[in-house]
Amino acid sequence: MARPLSLGVLLSGSGTNLQALIDAVAARQLDAQIAVVVSNEATAYGLVRAREHGISTEIVAHGVFRSRAAFDARLVEVLRAHGVELVVLAGFMRLVTPVLLGAFPARVVNIHPALLPAFPGLHAERQALAHGARITGVTVHFVDEHADHGPIIVQVAVPILPDDDEARLHLRIQRQEHRAYARAIQLIAEGRVRIEGRRVLIDGDTADAEAALASPPFAQRTSP
Ligand code: GAR
Repeated sequence: MARPLSLGVLLSGSGTNLQALIDAVAARQLDAQIAVVVSNEATAYGLVRAREHGISTEIVAHGVFRSRAAFDARLVEVLRAHGVELVVLAGFMRLVTPVLLGAFPARVVNIHPALLPAFPGLHAERQALAHGARITGVTVHFVDEHADHGPIIVQVAVPILPDDDEARLHLRIQRQEHRAYARAIQLIAEGRVRIEGRRVLIDGDTADAEAALASPPFAQRTSP
């Protein structure tokens, strides 16, 4: 079997996506190893999750750097020191610069809780509810210099239910995030992912031409 892909996970908060990756590696659903978890926030719970699983952690506090480029240069040093091959943003609440992207070309991925290009930025679930969207979801994409913008690897659609609030919608979206991120990274680990302009081509992609998620569902009857 090929050597596992070496991941560097960058996060700022709770790290449920990190946990899902840890679990997918343990369950042998993901041919990768998490070489290091880096946080810009010393109190991020994701650091605790990493330490509990014996994964190296580093804190790179953005406040002490005079520019975003200088902050990214330090991230690159840390990631290289741990032999990272793929940089995985998992709730990392900083915009990355060409310094990081140039050091890992087409090797930085992000997850976002909406079907991009809808609802980029902060509070994507709140934005979707405020807009009255009936379907939102999850996007895993390669990172470019714009927030929540680069070529899309995996998307999962999630219906918005009549009694949803932000917290309930967030929980259902996160359940799909936790499946989607491991799936996307496994496709990369298998060498099946190629970028052509804005499109990502996936070897052996077997999309179901008849599949659709409707909201409300087509089968639902409104009168007896
Ligand atoms: C996730 O929902 C992720 O999609 C979002 O931050 C959350 C982190 O959760 N990222 C963005 O909104 C990026 N624009 P986690 O710390 O529990 O993994």
